[in-house]
Amino acid sequence: MEVLSVASEVYPLIKTGGLADVAGALPLALVPYNVTMRTLLPGYPAVMAKLTETRVVAEFDDLFGAPGRLLAGRYAGLDLIVIEAAHLYDRPGNPYVGPEGWDWPDNWKRFSALSWVAAELGHGLVDGYQPQVIHCHDWQAGLTPAYIKYGPSERVKTVMTVHNMAFKGFFGPEVFGQLRLPPHAFGVNGVEYYGGISYLKSGMECADYVTTVSPNYADEIRTPEFGMGLEGLLNGRADTVIGILNGIDTVAWDPGADAALPQKFTATSVHMRAANKAAVVEKFGLDGTDGPLFCVVSRLTDQKGMDLLLQVLDGLVALGGRLAVLGSGDPGLEDGFRSAWQRHPGKVGLITGYNEELSHLIQGGADAILIPSRFEPCGLTQLYGLRYGCVPVVSRIGGLADTVIDANPAAIDAGVATGLLFNANDAHALYEAIRKAVRLYADDKTWKKIQRRGMKSDVSWETSAGQYADLYASLIGLKVNDDQDRSDDTL
Ligand code: ADP
Ligand code: GLC
Repeated sequence: MEVLSVASEVYPLIKTGGLADVAGALPLALVPYNVTMRTLLPGYPAVMAKLTETRVVAEFDDLFGAPGRLLAGRYAGLDLIVIEAAHLYDRPGNPYVGPEGWDWPDNWKRFSALSWVAAELGHGLVDGYQPQVIHCHDWQAGLTPAYIKYGPSERVKTVMTVHNMAFKGFFGPEVFGQLRLPPHAFGVNGVEYYGGISYLKSGMECADYVTTVSPNYADEIRTPEFGMGLEGLLNGRADTVIGILNGIDTVAWDPGADAALPQKFTATSVHMRAANKAAVVEKFGLDGTDGPLFCVVSRLTDQKGMDLLLQVLDGLVALGGRLAVLGSGDPGLEDGFRSAWQRHPGKVGLITGYNEELSHLIQGGADAILIPSRFEPCGLTQLYGLRYGCVPVVSRIGGLADTVIDANPAAIDAGVATGLLFNANDAHALYEAIRKAVRLYADDKTWKKIQRRGMKSDVSWETSAGQYADLYASLIGLKVNDDQDRSDDTL
């Protein structure tokens, strides 16, 4: 099967969050299922710098305001099609916001161009290359299904994956005239949303299938509390909505072979993590005392419940815990952690900014990772924590609840516990979970049992990649495992 994936970030080319991890890992995980997945992404400076050998496969005289080209290339085992369009993507800052932290004012154009190019590829733009399915990730790719639906032919099927319902890609109605869609697309069955345009809603409305990144979140978003205004749409097409749990790249994240760890280890040598813990303690300027080392590796935002953690931080320290925070985001939350750091020298450490290598070291050295999210479509840091023996302490929500087994007495006895769960959006419940973690940590035998069990959890892509492959096959009317002749392609 030939599938085109469309994403605004793809690890290891460009990453701001879990979407990049998923878009980077899924193509490789699909190889055993006979899926050839190419990835279309914008040519940001970081992407262009990494691609050395490329071929021009298409040229546009007017790609939403100026000429552009499509370059095919490979990087880190990924087959890529990159949009080279300086007027849209050649600028500093991250993919969505400029250096001052504001959204680029022309994001509507930057990502409608991404979606439009994807649809053109679906319509047979490049000779010899015909994707059978286009897999669109998040609002940035959300117009693609609309361009297919209202385009010249529907020879390609579309899947819309929602990684985060909170980001709708909402723009005013004035941009509609420049989107290259027919007038009737501006309607309730098309791109219109509360008088404006939502790229996410468009994708969810027009795609052949909608997926999200955990079964639990797939259920939650059918309710007003988590559906954020799109629950009606989802309920209306409930038979074509499914939750497929994210996996992780178990090669890039392997504690037995991770170059970021001073001491590599496996489930049978969790005690060797001590050397990594010492490295984390030193890096964050913490005391080398006994007691559990908690960590956070996260965007510092309301979604992630970081304000709840700030409320109980003095309590965490009073219980004998220490905390290492790696994150960036909301300036108010960054300030909150900075002042906790000043209040509790040696007990709380903060490193702001984005640091992939340090995130590995933290997972390999800290005792527990705190994830008090208010909502969490899947979450990847608890999966990295499981794999690295960094016990996840997480709210009972979304994908967190699908992936962590609470260490209640029955689960501990049965040997299945992998972490701690508590009620979301409840600072007291978070505090109680931290208290429980401190108590369990003091019982070394039980704690190591929980760590080892977590390390043995299946967090790979294997099962989920199979589910995506089945979905693509069903959309194009194939029986799973049918041998397919792949079209010869020129890319
Ligand atoms: P989300 O995508 O909502 O931010 P996920 O848990 O799915 O949450 O994915 C977050 C990804 O970003 C993980 O790979 C995590 O390790 C990484 N990450 C988050 N903040 C940082 C940071 N400051 N430095 C390095 N990696 C980070
Ligand atoms: C989003 C979600 C996160 C999920 C990630 C990858 O950023 O917030 O829960 O793990 O996408 O699917």
